[in-house]
Amino acid sequence: MKPSSYATLLSCVAALGGLLFGYDTAVISGAIGFLRACFNLGPADTGFAASSALIGCILGAAAAGPLSDRYGRKRALLLSAALFTISGVGSAIPQTLVQFNVARVLGGLGIGMASLLSPLYIAEIAPPDIRGRLVSYNQFAIVIGILTVYFVNYYIAGLGDDIWNITTGWRWMFGSEVLPAFLFFLTLLAIPESPRWLVKNGNEERAFGILSRLATPGEARAEVAAIKATVTQQEESVAGLFSRGMGIALALGIALAILQQITGINVFMYYAPEIFKQLGAGTNTALLQTVIVGAFNVTFTVVAIWTVDRIGRKPLLIVGATGMACSLTGLGLAAYFGTTQAWVLVFVLGYIACFALSMGPVVWVVLSEIYPTRLRGRAMGIATLLLWAANFVVSQSFPVINEDSWLVATFHHAFPFWLYAFFCVVTVVVTWLFVPETKGKTLEEIERYWAKRR
Ligand code: BGC
Repeated sequence: MKPSSYATLLSCVAALGGLLFGYDTAVISGAIGFLRACFNLGPADTGFAASSALIGCILGAAAAGPLSDRYGRKRALLLSAALFTISGVGSAIPQTLVQFNVARVLGGLGIGMASLLSPLYIAEIAPPDIRGRLVSYNQFAIVIGILTVYFVNYYIAGLGDDIWNITTGWRWMFGSEVLPAFLFFLTLLAIPESPRWLVKNGNEERAFGILSRLATPGEARAEVAAIKATVTQQEESVAGLFSRGMGIALALGIALAILQQITGINVFMYYAPEIFKQLGAGTNTALLQTVIVGAFNVTFTVVAIWTVDRIGRKPLLIVGATGMACSLTGLGLAAYFGTTQAWVLVFVLGYIACFALSMGPVVWVVLSEIYPTRLRGRAMGIATLLLWAANFVVSQSFPVINEDSWLVATFHHAFPFWLYAFFCVVTVVVTWLFVPETKGKTLEEIERYWAKRR
């Protein structure tokens, strides 16, 4: 097999983690109404049932870094696949709300872990010239997962009447996740450990064996030597994370991770039908428009896959975040003037397209490649943990700021959109000033860049 085809194959296996990330975060949207009726939940319990997985995501992201630095990328990925499988079964059979929430938190642990391990593993095995593309496959898988589960939920809901959906239908929605989760577990068994992690742990021979399938034997030897040189230069301890050059990289990763969320993407992912209704659509149209949003998300992620290694990370981020800012400003104006015409959808789709070709994939690409091998898991873990925490804050606060009486009286529902637009502008500035262009560079070259800044 050609080295690039082998790298692509390994990336596709790892990207199944992204598929489950998307599937498991979005499955709740179709199930929550039936679950609520089944357990007779009030608003607070419903809100918690909808977001309990996010708590697991935060914990999972925190645990995955140290675990994968210590026990290896592959073992940590296997653990996340096991958690997805257990949670799929557990959230399909609960008799009480507590049992359901426990199962969802376990699933969240799997999502949080996979959200950083899949891109990290791909970055560590990918040849430098296609690394951006291969890591973006993971984002592609996330959005395919989201879109697939919309259809799966829709299909399952159509299998019976309301009574059936309330007693049984929602259980199948969660249970359906077991299939991709188990497939992820099985295929992971067949992939090798990350060669960079192996070198870091003194297993150069095995690393060489794997690298020579990912490059020519000559290149593989040189790569082992380059990895070895950088891992032995690094500080042993976590304190290394806060040393000068690394501190900047850490702060940059954290900023991008938080910005990816506070520019509002999940407000559209989680509340799209509500936003469309607010802009004048009926229930059915709102659902259809939600599917169109998903399709745009998938399509424009492909644009990023094509361009991220050609044009580079920085231009994509700048162009995408600018487009997001313009779309959100337009959407805010429409909300401000109470426009309810169908063309307002153009702003939503413009925003989704711009996110999908920039911040969606590229933030994960940058996070997976800017840290040194020895600290990559832990550093990416900190950034990812904050990404999930920001997701939690944004998705919980949207209904509040969208309905706040003073804000509504002053801005007529435009405030959240303008707030997210402001953070898009911040993203452009941060990217312009601080993001190094990493296109085509080896991970070791990127490492030396930060070392020089010390
Ligand atoms: C983000 C998720 C988001 C997804 C949607 C990912 O890159 O991290 O929070 O739901 O993209 O496309």
